[in-house]
Amino acid sequence: MPRIFTYNAFKNHSPKASAYADKHAPVVVCAPTAERGLPFSVTVRIGTNQKHPNTMEHHFCYIQLWDLETLVAETRFDHRALGDKPLQIEAQFTIIPQRSLRLTAMAYCNQHGLWQSEEFFVHAPIQDS
Ligand SMILES: [Fe+2]
Repeated sequence: MPRIFTYNAFKNHSPKASAYADKHAPVVVCAPTAERGLPFSVTVRIGTNQKHPNTMEHHFCYIQLWDLETLVAETRFDHRALGDKPLQIEAQFTIIPQRSLRLTAMAYCNQHGLWQSEEFFVHAPIQDS
């Protein structure tokens, strides 16, 4: 079982440790409510204030979006397609919720492991018909 890192594990440490966590921890960005059966946009952002390296030796490999224990979306990166300069990565997913969601993003850096976002709750109320 891999060790999983979170921003909160580093936030009360030194500014350097916080910056390290910020450049690795994914954040789920979306509306707090959704309509069942309709497309719903979810953005996962890595590095709200920090850029992450993007070299052969050090880069992000993938971002996953989970609803509790269900993998609902995933994108993989070919770092060569993104240049070799440090960057902030953002992935956009469109999903069609069938119920309320408890979204968590996971992101994997080939040097610094697997990082988990905070959970984001999306309320998808039952529609009156
Ligand atoms: Fe890294």
